[in-house]
Order: sequence, then C-alpha cells, then structure tokens
Amino acid sequence: MIKVMVVGGGAREDAVCRKLARDGAKIYSVLSNLNPSILSLSTDRLIARETESRTIVSYAEENEVDLVFVGPDPALATDLVDSLIEKGIRVASPTRKAAEIETSKAFMRELVDKYKIPGQVDHRVFTSTSGLPEYLAELGDYAVKPLGLTGGKGVRVKGDHFRTDSEGLDIAARIIGSDGSVLIERKIIGEEFSLQAFSDGENLSFMPVAQDYKRAFDGDMGPNTGGMGSITDSDHGLPFISKSAVSESKEIMLQILHAMRSEDREFRGILYGQFMETSGGTRIIEINSRFADPEGINALFLMDDSLLDVLFGISDGKLSEHYEFMKKATVLKYVVPPGYGSADPEVVELHVDPGIAGQGSEIFYASVSGTLSDIRTTRSRSLAVISAAESIPEAAEITDSVVNRIRGRFHYRKDIGTRESLDQKIRRMESIRSASPP
Ligand code: GLY
Repeated sequence: MIKVMVVGGGAREDAVCRKLARDGAKIYSVLSNLNPSILSLSTDRLIARETESRTIVSYAEENEVDLVFVGPDPALATDLVDSLIEKGIRVASPTRKAAEIETSKAFMRELVDKYKIPGQVDHRVFTSTSGLPEYLAELGDYAVKPLGLTGGKGVRVKGDHFRTDSEGLDIAARIIGSDGSVLIERKIIGEEFSLQAFSDGENLSFMPVAQDYKRAFDGDMGPNTGGMGSITDSDHGLPFISKSAVSESKEIMLQILHAMRSEDREFRGILYGQFMETSGGTRIIEINSRFADPEGINALFLMDDSLLDVLFGISDGKLSEHYEFMKKATVLKYVVPPGYGSADPEVVELHVDPGIAGQGSEIFYASVSGTLSDIRTTRSRSLAVISAAESIPEAAEITDSVVNRIRGRFHYRKDIGTRESLDQKIRRMESIRSASPP
C-alpha cells in the first residue's frame, strides 16, 4: 500500500485524507490538534506544529513514506518541502521559492507587472508613511494588506471595514510598524470567485469554479473570517460569473505558471487564484499555493478521479490535462463556535450523532478534538458540512438539514447558496457589467 504523509489538521486536510484513503493510500498524518476524523483515518500520526519542519522530515524518513502533501500555507512558508526533496522524498506541494507567489503579495504583484500578465490592480508597497496619505487620497477607495500570510483575516477595505482615510492611514502605519511594509491596492468592485488547478510546473488542470463566503454573518456582514462556506455549480461555473471572466482567469493562471518557470521557481502543487469579475474585466485579488479552504473541500468532494494519481503526477511533473469532477452543485457551510470572528469566541461541546449526513452529504472535522460524535471546539472553525444536489439552492437546503441535526450551541450562515443570495449576486453583476469601466 502506498504511504502518504499529509501535513495539517483542518477540515481541508480531513477532506484530502478521506479522498486519499478511498483511493487506497495508507495515511500518515502530521497535525497539532487531535482531529478525530484525521486520526481515525491514519495508520500513524505525529502531533507537531505544521511549521516544525525538522521534526516532520525525520518522521517522514522514519516511516519511509512514498509521498508527502502539505496542506496549510504557514508550512509552505518554511523549508519543509525543500528539505523533504533534498532527502529524496516525493512531494506534491510547492517549494518555498515557488510558494512565495502566496507568501509574498509584493512578489506576486511584481511578477504580474514584469511579465505584463493581465488582471493587475493598481498598487504600491510602502515601508514608511512618507507619501502614503497622498497615495490614499489619489486612490480614493483602497484595500490595506499585509504582505505576508494573514489566514484570510488581515485585509482591510475602505468602505467595508473602515470609513475614513485617517483610519486607513492608522491601519497601514500599524502594519508598517509590525511587519516593516504594507501593500495598498485600489479597491475594485465586483464578485469574487476562486479557481483552483493542479499544476505539474508546466500545465494546469482546472477544478470547478467556486465562491467563498468570507464574512461572519448573513448578508455579508461582520468581520472577515477564514471562510464561512463555499459553493460550486453543476456546470462548474457560477451563475453570476461570466464565462469570459472564467476564461480570462484561466489564461492569467497559465501566464503566472509560465512566468514562475522563467524565474526558476517552477510551481508544482495546487495553484489557487482568487479573482474578481469587474466592469473592466477580470482582476487578480490573490494567488495562493494550496487548496483553498473551504473551496478545496468542494472540489475534493466532487472529484471522481484518483487524488493519489494526481499527487504523483504533480510530484513527477506529469499530469493529465483533465480530471473528472461530478456534474453536481455543492454547498458547504462551516459550523463555528459562538462568537467566532469576534475577539473572544467560546469553546463549546458539540454532538454529532452517527448517520446524520446521509448520502450526498459529508461532515469534515476542523479545529476540534474529542471523538467523531462528542467534539470539543477550539476558538476556530469546527465542522464543515457539505452536500451535493442538482442545483445550488437544493444543496444548501440539504446542508442546512444536516447542520440542524448537530447538537450544541454554534453559529453558521443561513444565506449561503440560497436562491435569494444567488439572485442578488446575479442582479449586482448585471448592473456592474453595464457600468462603464473605471
Ligand atoms: N478561501 C480563502 C482561502 O483559502 O484563503
């Protein structure tokens, strides 16, 4: 049996482990939390922080694993993948230099400029506040972003998270104070979408397009989170995103892949672009070096072909052009502890009775410990509930019915994937497309 080591202990890694186990792999897991689902799938496990690369490499050697897959971005920012490759171990994740496409937002923007790749957003990096007030005034509306990893929670957008330039300046100055630099980008208007692809360094094989609902509360209110849920549609597009925007984003990702190769940063792994369809075309929000969380779970849930074969294809630099995904819509909702997204979420007990997720649904375990039925949460996301159906609203109803059978106190978003939410997005994009480009 093929031994695969999976690094990471969240719902996304649970989905990876379940798929690999179904594909016939023997799982060796590395995680810092006692995720009951991942542990139940694992032949053996190392309890360690995902950034402890030396310990993880020794564990891979001791267990003579055949292949390693690294889930979370903080681990990709370490020397873990490079050290495994040096030891002659196959890895289906990008090297540290390649992962900089995500770990340094400045590098990504410079690469897009240098290779004249479409989809760029007006931006500047500041290492002091000199010239910053003038640039903020020039842009009018903007996003303030740390250059490094933020777990999806560090970006602050004028009009969404704060109102005035003086607040924007304070936020930017604080980021310069802690990180040494800050990225300011022009605010763009439209709907975001996520495009993930398997990459063997030269070619991309795309997964269904998805959308992540980032805000904590219904109606896109409240703070940004790591993601409260995500949707995909049965045609693998999205009802509010045009086909041309999807084609443009595919072309952008291919150009980025080829630019990375020219820069001697060949990217083998999962390339994940966050894009926005705007009145002026498709724009790049971020490029990431891993499965999206939660959107990666939607893709893995739909995947018909063997993930094990794909991971070998990635590590060997030889992927097929196309992999099969079920032609169904999916809706995923995260169950989170009360107060999640605020400064002080609660830690609670949840109970999952066996069999509450019927055929067409699944529950993945995130930052929790305990058993499969009696769970203790952390202050982070707890369970990812996903369902597939013919349409997005039908999948949302099934997911809600599973969520409502979980016992305990928790929060989840009720509006993800509803007909009303989709219609609102369709109308919004119709009006954005009919406006003249900025
Ligand atoms: N879906 C947001 C992220 O994975 O960064």
